[in-house]
Amino acid sequence: MEHVDLAILGAGAAGLFCAGSAVAQGRRVLVLDHASKPAEKIRISGGGRCNFTNLASEPSRFISANPRFCASALARFTPTQFVDLVDRAGIAWHEKTLGQLFCDGKATQITGMLLQRMGGAELRLGCGVNGVSHAGDRFQIATDAAQLSAASVVVATGGKSIPKMGATGIGYEIAQGFGLRCHDTDPGLVPMTFAEQDLALCKPLAGVSVEARIRHGKASFQDALLFTHRGISGPVILQISSFWKPGETLTVDLAPAVDIAAALKAQKGVAGRIAAATALAKFLPERLAQAIAAELGLGAARLADQPNKLLDRLGKRVNQWQLRPVGTEGYRTAEVTLGGVDTRDLDARTMQARKVPGLHFIGECVDVTGWLGGYNFQWAWASADAAGRAA
Ligand code: FDA
Repeated sequence: MEHVDLAILGAGAAGLFCAGSAVAQGRRVLVLDHASKPAEKIRISGGGRCNFTNLASEPSRFISANPRFCASALARFTPTQFVDLVDRAGIAWHEKTLGQLFCDGKATQITGMLLQRMGGAELRLGCGVNGVSHAGDRFQIATDAAQLSAASVVVATGGKSIPKMGATGIGYEIAQGFGLRCHDTDPGLVPMTFAEQDLALCKPLAGVSVEARIRHGKASFQDALLFTHRGISGPVILQISSFWKPGETLTVDLAPAVDIAAALKAQKGVAGRIAAATALAKFLPERLAQAIAAELGLGAARLADQPNKLLDRLGKRVNQWQLRPVGTEGYRTAEVTLGGVDTRDLDARTMQARKVPGLHFIGECVDVTGWLGGYNFQWAWASADAAGRAA
């Protein structure tokens, strides 16, 4: 049987980064993945340009049953440290908005950098992992090819998102096999699906984009909302999807900077002869203004002829649109998986299972999920570095 110091299961963002950190500690490392290429999600991330970190990677930007768990790893491997690696690799980058850093060129430059950083670690692709068990003081790994023996194992097999790209959820099975607790999983950062009456408004507006604020419980995000043929999408919808549960209602403000009822009432006195839809179009994209005015039966009606009560309704429709999604597109298109390995069973400094010395869990399979904007990769790097130094 083949013996290694450290077997890393999964050659995604977290697995590759962990290999580099472990090699730097002088460990003999083998990275296994059933895919034919490493880090396929990095390739497609950030629209092909990889939003590789976020400068504001604080614990408050992550969702977890134990919100402080990620603090230690995030503090010990920071976005600036990752940027240093990117700079040293000569990869050009830019800040888009809100601390989000993207490559100027292709996302695969990041994968190239991670592979280079792995140095002497062996990467074995096309090798599926079927399970891990204890054999004395070592671990036995069942793969498609053969059994392997390792002194330490890092599970970096990701979540259930995008099964077409190789996601299996085996990390949760391995955790449960060793008696670790797991939280139920859900798709996160995922487009939502809408009922027929909402689609009737959305479909004809396909292509229209508006800056919107969406509130749901304590969560609130402001970013672009995009009308599509299938409903509503855009970053603000992906963000709120991670906080939404079936049956719940979202409050959408399509003009966060303006109290629409008050603005229209003010205009009524000075420019009452214009159509209500035209008045509304000062604050919203024209097609959206027309659609909402028509929905309330205003069409070409003069603003001056509208009772304040109707303008209040129009204002509410724009500033407090009550939207009840029927579901999400699920793991098929979700960028991440919420839930996973319960952090109460992991050591926050090393990502090691408290009751199983030598067994570590990192990246997306752990119950730590970032907001949209580079946070999930920063968690992958930080948790991987914590485990790679310790394993
Ligand atoms: P990841 O899923 O990357 O890797 C897991 C690896 O394990 C895979 O290579 C898989 O093949 C392998 N594996 C699974 N089961 C196996 C088995 N049984 N045997 C062997 N191998 C197995 N985040 C961000 O911060 N910025 C961004 O720009 C984006 N953009 C983005 C776009 C899209 C379309 C998606 C789907 C996701 C993003 N993300 C993102 C999220 C980001 O990609 C994600 O958080 C990380 O890839 C998670 O890294 P992991 O290494 O934990 O899992």
